[in-house]
Amino acid sequence: MNRFQGKRAFITGAGSGLGQALAIVLARRGWKIGVAEIDPDRTRKTSQDVNQAGGEALAIPCDVTRPENLEAAADAILAQWGGIDLVINNAGVSGCGLMEEIDPERWEWIFNINLKSVIYGCRAFIPMLKNQGSGHIVNVASYLGFVSAPESSCYNVTKAGIISLSETLRIELAKNHIGVSVVMPSFFKTNLMEQLYAAGERQEKLVRALFEKTNVKPDKVAHSILKGIAANRFYILPQWDAKLIWLIKRFSPELYLRLFSFIYRKALVEKFFRLQ
Ligand SMILES: NC(=O)c1ccc[n+]([C@@H]2O[C@H](COP(=O)([O-])OP(=O)(O)OC[C@H]3O[C@@H](n4cnc5c(N)ncnc54)[C@H](O)[C@@H]3O)[C@@H](O)[C@H]2O)c1
Repeated sequence: MNRFQGKRAFITGAGSGLGQALAIVLARRGWKIGVAEIDPDRTRKTSQDVNQAGGEALAIPCDVTRPENLEAAADAILAQWGGIDLVINNAGVSGCGLMEEIDPERWEWIFNINLKSVIYGCRAFIPMLKNQGSGHIVNVASYLGFVSAPESSCYNVTKAGIISLSETLRIELAKNHIGVSVVMPSFFKTNLMEQLYAAGERQEKLVRALFEKTNVKPDKVAHSILKGIAANRFYILPQWDAKLIWLIKRFSPELYLRLFSFIYRKALVEKFFRLQ
């Protein structure tokens, strides 16, 4: 991380889970953190934690679905710290359900929070990064962006969109010496289930069961992300299960789809969790 001399980061959804863990791990290394979050109590708490950990917090009340909030955040960071080294578009929510049962309003909701937020975050900070000729953007997707698990199309599509956007930016911004990484974690323990949207009871049970099963902590994921950034790696897969599925899909995408269709048809995941 030595190439980031200014040690200035902006993190959305920094009030909980992965965003909070990233803020604190960076603060311990002396970073300044723009704590962008919709929940005022969480903003306050993370800002306190950042200051206590040895960093410097700038609390930024922010709804990531509003482009003007992200533009104001970029202006505030420029005014306070004169620039930015790391932009982490992390805020997100989760959703599941059969394609035809997901209401149009929920598609809108999840698109706005998960995907448009990343677009707005990149739009707001890229001019600053280009002026500097340095910096790094980290977009938090999910392994579901390439796993394409059934009955979670609304979530999968937003995360696949983040992967595609990030790949485009990696190529587009290389000539400006701006790094881009995309993070594709599998399940880890956070407050993500608090805002879970489920179109059906069965999917809700399954997603909650998968979430319950994990004992991976957000700071483990945060450390992997920082290692990936330090190495200027593009695809960051912090967990072994995501890496395994990634390799199978890369090896033979057709075989992967057949395998997953078989698992789904036989309800093997539900059987494993004794949900049937
Ligand atoms: N936890 C997992 O298993 C998992 C797996 C893969 C990917 N992810 C991704 O990691 C990211 C972080 O999620 P987490 O697991 O830490 O969840 P979390 O719920 O603990 O944290 C998300 C934070 O985002 C904030 N937020 C929600 N809507 C917002 C908005 N409109 N504006 C600003 N902030 C908003 C929430 O208040 C919360 O503090 C998400 O993008 C999620 O999709 C999580």
